Amino acid sequence: MKHIIHLSILCCILIYGCNRQKKSQQEAGTIPKMIMSGEKWLDTSGNMINAHGGGILYHDGTYYWYGEYKGDSTYWNPRVPGWECYRTEAGGVSCYSSQNLVDWKFEGIVLPSDTVNEKSDLHYSNVLERPKVIYNDKTKKFVMWLHVDSHDYAKATAGVAVSDSPNGKFEYLGSIRPNDAMSRDMTLFKDDDGKAYHVYSSEENRTLYISELTEDYLKPTGKFTRNFIDQSREAPAVFKRNGKYYILSSGCTAWDPNQAEYAAADSMLGEWKMLGNPCSGKDADITFYGQSTHVLKVEGKEDAYIAMFDKWNKTDLINSRYIWLPVKFNGDSIDIEWRDKWNVEEVFKN
Ligand code: DGJ
Repeated sequence: MKHIIHLSILCCILIYGCNRQKKSQQEAGTIPKMIMSGEKWLDTSGNMINAHGGGILYHDGTYYWYGEYKGDSTYWNPRVPGWECYRTEAGGVSCYSSQNLVDWKFEGIVLPSDTVNEKSDLHYSNVLERPKVIYNDKTKKFVMWLHVDSHDYAKATAGVAVSDSPNGKFEYLGSIRPNDAMSRDMTLFKDDDGKAYHVYSSEENRTLYISELTEDYLKPTGKFTRNFIDQSREAPAVFKRNGKYYILSSGCTAWDPNQAEYAAADSMLGEWKMLGNPCSGKDADITFYGQSTHVLKVEGKEDAYIAMFDKWNKTDLINSRYIWLPVKFNGDSIDIEWRDKWNVEEVFKN
């Protein structure tokens, strides 16, 4: 009995010592901040980060992460029995801010859903997905595009909202079928010359459209290309490196994971060449159970890009997780290798 008591006291002292050391290291900032693949990611207030299908904007020294704010109960839409139409009430678009890409402060819901007007695009019974925000240097507005859909995904439109500041509130301007075509999964890309593009799954998700935006980024110019025709690419994420453009995308299997593909081109409007699966390591054939949403260029570092994926939990969507992995380059080809956890400062040294 005495031994057990001694052992328990020893354990307590050890745990206390370890925690104290960890705390003082944290205070001194010497514990490496890790990005953990698929683990619970808490914001600076200790709540789970709720920013799914999201994207990141860097502005004036701060990263802003925008994403879908999922409601806390998931149900299979009874009006869509034909496929696994799991959904939550749309909670609008959330925004988090960070300087180091690990600690995220909740800035609030920058585009709230509408709880009253059933006719509103933003009514919580609708689908609000994959918000992306870019900054317009000419109009000085933050411009958001997002997938706006009816409860059954039949409306297939893109919505636009603007704000004077990155952390909102955003003013909703309405939705369109850009270039008279369906628009579901989508992203935005702002090029070095200030031109911006809306990239979206169209024609019942069979073909990916790349559509140039007007100078204010609020409408399509009418100039667009149809890419990967009949190849059913979803979840597009676009980035540029050394003058080359890349699109990372998923196949089309609702909330279930599938194999990622990437493509490269010398200009945004194409021609795009498919280059295969960029993922390697454990579960690379199903994108590590994830689906692409954005590729972030890390500021001030050479060749530092982070591929961001959602690891959907289709029956409990709010509990979907995030997988962020560094993108490695070999000439023009890319490799996204699985890591359980990694440190931004260590991986991107320059
Ligand atoms: C796949 C898309 O990539 C997601 O954003 C979401 O729309 C689901 N389909 C819905 O099943």
